[in-house]
Amino acid sequence: MIIFFILLLPGCFGFEDVKSIKARLDINKDGSYSIVEIQDKIEGSNSLATAEYKNAINQTGWAFLDISTSQKFTDKKQAFGAGFLEGALTSELLYMYYQNTIVGRCDGKEQLCASIDKWLDESLKWIESKIKQSSHRKGYWHHVSLFMTQLTGIAEGYHHVMKDKNKTITLKDIIVMNVFGDLEDLESALNPTQLPNKVLGKGHCSALLRLLPGNADLLVSHDTWNSYQSMLRIIKKYNMPFKRSSRSSEIIPGHTLSFSGYPGVIYSGDDFSILSSGLTVLETTIGNSNPDLWTQLTPHSVLEGIRSTVANRLATDGRSWTNIFSIHNSGTYNNQWMVVDYNQFTPGDKELKPNLLWVLEQIPGYIQTKDLTQIIESQGFWPSYNSPYFKDVYNMSGNQRLVEQYGDWFSYEKTPRAQIFHRDAVKVTDIPSMIKLMRYNNYTQDPLSVCDCSPPYSAENSISARNDLNPLNGTYPFPALSHRSHGGTDMKLTSYKMAQNYQLIAQGGPTWDPLPPFRWSEQDFKDTPHVGQPDLWQFDPVEVTWN
Ligand SMILES: *[C@@H]1O[C@H](CO)[C@@H](O)[C@H](O)[C@H]1NC(C)=O
Ligand SMILES: *[C@@H]1O[C@H](CO)[C@@H](O)[C@H](O)[C@H]1NC(C)=O
Ligand SMILES: *[C@@H]1O[C@H](CO)[C@@H](O)[C@H](O)[C@H]1NC(C)=O
Ligand SMILES: *[C@@H]1O[C@H](CO)[C@@H](O)[C@H](O)[C@H]1NC(C)=O
Ligand SMILES: *[C@@H]1O[C@H](CO)[C@@H](O)[C@H](O)[C@H]1NC(C)=O
Repeated sequence: MIIFFILLLPGCFGFEDVKSIKARLDINKDGSYSIVEIQDKIEGSNSLATAEYKNAINQTGWAFLDISTSQKFTDKKQAFGAGFLEGALTSELLYMYYQNTIVGRCDGKEQLCASIDKWLDESLKWIESKIKQSSHRKGYWHHVSLFMTQLTGIAEGYHHVMKDKNKTITLKDIIVMNVFGDLEDLESALNPTQLPNKVLGKGHCSALLRLLPGNADLLVSHDTWNSYQSMLRIIKKYNMPFKRSSRSSEIIPGHTLSFSGYPGVIYSGDDFSILSSGLTVLETTIGNSNPDLWTQLTPHSVLEGIRSTVANRLATDGRSWTNIFSIHNSGTYNNQWMVVDYNQFTPGDKELKPNLLWVLEQIPGYIQTKDLTQIIESQGFWPSYNSPYFKDVYNMSGNQRLVEQYGDWFSYEKTPRAQIFHRDAVKVTDIPSMIKLMRYNNYTQDPLSVCDCSPPYSAENSISARNDLNPLNGTYPFPALSHRSHGGTDMKLTSYKMAQNYQLIAQGGPTWDPLPPFRWSEQDFKDTPHVGQPDLWQFDPVEVTWN
């Protein structure tokens, strides 16, 4: 059973009434599939998968999906079945999300989109050939293959219930949904004019790891920053007891995970994932502002979401996660990854054990990794805010040049969020104060939110951005600080204890206290697609637990 309750205002929204759908996927004698609605999540003798789905987006800002597959079937069947059941149960939401994020994605940039498509096809063809060549005795390509199979399952499950020809979603569309982070970098890399067409300094996400006083807990939290049209969200839990390889009988360490996700997307993408291996894995985007590095890209590589999925499944600790993730670096969706290994943590320990925190930074052609537990130990927290920590990565990706051109906003130490985290993270003593900091935005009052702008501050310059609140007629030194359909779109948090049961606290939508809540009908960009989204985004945190 998926149980969730409002943390601060129990019972206020009456969402206990939201219908929960439980279903199992059976394989019939002729090899076809049937979806059977059930009362309890109990598998039949020929069930490949069981699931529970609850769409409470209008009540809480989130939908919830819990899927398990049966070990009695091959890995390939399990991957397909998990995808099939997800595609079927979430079909309505998937179609809404498709309209919001895929339908108009090439408008006005058809040529660029065609080059990206060609690059993507080449990459998929290369992956297909590697899968064919490899014997699957080694786990890597086995798990890449399962990733692709699960996507096929999503497309087929979707069409199993969505018969309307007007609502067709192709497998290619599903694949595109699953590489949205990579696409952004491919747009810069393949732009024939070589003009930077992305929003300069565009921020993606804030994250904080906070060691509570007395080493009582290590809280891990993440805010997604994204365009507001992306806000149809599903918190998912997958339990897929795959083998390490097709010749192995050993179940993978990362067989179960929960994550904050999106319709049709089979990994977090935020990223924020809690794994059965004891790892909690998250990232913020660092991007690449050095055009010279784009020459390092090749379609003969593995896109980011696939590499993170394989690492999530196979890794046993921070070091092995970073090793697996580094194979076949695509140089796209360039992120600072944080791998927290809760196996290395005991609440109340006097000293931290090494390997509690591994950090990885990726740019095209280069990856740097290190055990940085020491930093958590010495300053009590690790902040992450779209700026590279490693000096080499920082310089190579062109940030030094941006500081020379635009000033400290592009520096690691002095960018507003670095200073806000350094001022406020040490004051976090428990979960409520952590949530408060992760939702923090007081941009008209906070001296650290000021900029050389008119009016003299930006709602981008805080832990959870609200760019919609910047006036359209304001003046800003670079586009990131200006008015746009962009901001913090959620908050997720877990702890040592919660992570053991894949639990998290999650808050959907842009931050609002003390700011006015986000309302679509009040926006000048209300024509941007947001099918199915609540008009008013004013939700409290919910605690998500699973049975
Ligand atoms: C499909 O779309 C076309 C064109 O928009 C429309 O004329 C037709 O009625 C639609 N069919 C259904 C079944 O909705
Ligand atoms: C980075 O660039 C700055 C300024 O150009 C230089 O002083 C510094 O040594 C560089 N650091 C590395 C690690 O390359
Ligand atoms: C915002 O800043 C003002 C002025 O410093 C302060 O009075 C208020 O409490 C702050 N609000 C929050 C939520 O931090
Ligand atoms: C922007 O518009 C607002 C409201 O119309 C107005 O009060 C303000 O003076 C304008 N600011 C600038 C810089 O033009
Ligand atoms: C939220 O409610 C509106 C109005 O009933 C509905 O049109 C929309 O589809 C719902 N959104 C989701 C995600 O279910």
